[in-house]
Amino acid sequence: MSLSSKDIDGVTAAALEAIAGAADLDSLKEVRIAHVGDKSPIARANQSLASLDPSARAEFGKVIGKAKGSITSAFESRQRVLEEERDARVLVEERVDVSIAAKRTPSGGLHPLTILTNEICDLFTGLGYRVAEGPELEAEWLNFDSLNIPADHPARTMQDTFFIEPLDSHLVLRTHTSPVQMRTMLEEKPPIYVICPGRTYRADELDATHTPVFSQVEGLVVDRGITMADLKGTLDHFARSIFGADVKTRLRPSFFPFTEPSAEVDFFFNGRWVEWGGCGMVNPKVLRAAGIDPEEFSGFAFGMGLERTLMVKHGITDMHDIVEGDIRFTQNFGSGLR
Ligand code: PHE
Repeated sequence: MSLSSKDIDGVTAAALEAIAGAADLDSLKEVRIAHVGDKSPIARANQSLASLDPSARAEFGKVIGKAKGSITSAFESRQRVLEEERDARVLVEERVDVSIAAKRTPSGGLHPLTILTNEICDLFTGLGYRVAEGPELEAEWLNFDSLNIPADHPARTMQDTFFIEPLDSHLVLRTHTSPVQMRTMLEEKPPIYVICPGRTYRADELDATHTPVFSQVEGLVVDRGITMADLKGTLDHFARSIFGADVKTRLRPSFFPFTEPSAEVDFFFNGRWVEWGGCGMVNPKVLRAAGIDPEEFSGFAFGMGLERTLMVKHGITDMHDIVEGDIRFTQNFGSGLR
């Protein structure tokens, strides 16, 4: 095959036209195969140089070389233009709007009462106490009799206590966490250091300050030489850990059948005294009922409501917020997860 300079002009013009007409990189790729590649007319013309005699080869070689040069540079510059167009388009099309709020997967959290309970348990286990628990459905004997609460005590009446039918089952929904004291003393020998959080029940209407299902935390220590000073020091430490380093407590004389002497514990917070719970030295009668010799051992106990503690600590004014479980309220306390 032999080609004239005119043919080369035609081939070149066709190639340049195809290159200029390639609208995107894919079509430019096809153009490259047809007009620039090894099997393109210009490549074949180049191959045919071998069959020419040397003088014609030199002359025609120049023509082909020039044509190839212009085709290649047209191709390269078209390729650059199309690549720039593509890059600009991709930047727009694949643009990421970093200002759009991320999709969040809401995760659950602990109820503020549970968070407080965990905080208290951590505090006391740090002091060497053990966490003890007991059933919410409790034997009447453990909830009352064993704690020296006589059969005619007003707290036993139908208004205060949820009795379980049949009545001769002698089961109640525990009215306080104190039966866990007795359970612990019956099961363990002193020294005893336990903290007992749990749910408790009394026949109250739900209102801004009462709830029939509430929570208490009970502390019990039985050891040799335990005095009221140990109780006071423990309550001070407890109050400071929960309410802040400058919080004071005071004891006011009171009466509980299972402690002797007994006291109400208040703490001074935000400029006023707040009632917190009950406490006292474990009544020797109760120690004896648990098979512990009061001549050898003495102990203290305290118990307070967790709802009340939470309300004072966080300035919560309505009990409904605590019991209703509305996450708009509870989420303000964080997840409590550690
Ligand atoms: N159990 C008592 C109550 O519910 C509180 C208390 C606990 C008092 C321990 C003294 C000792 O009111």
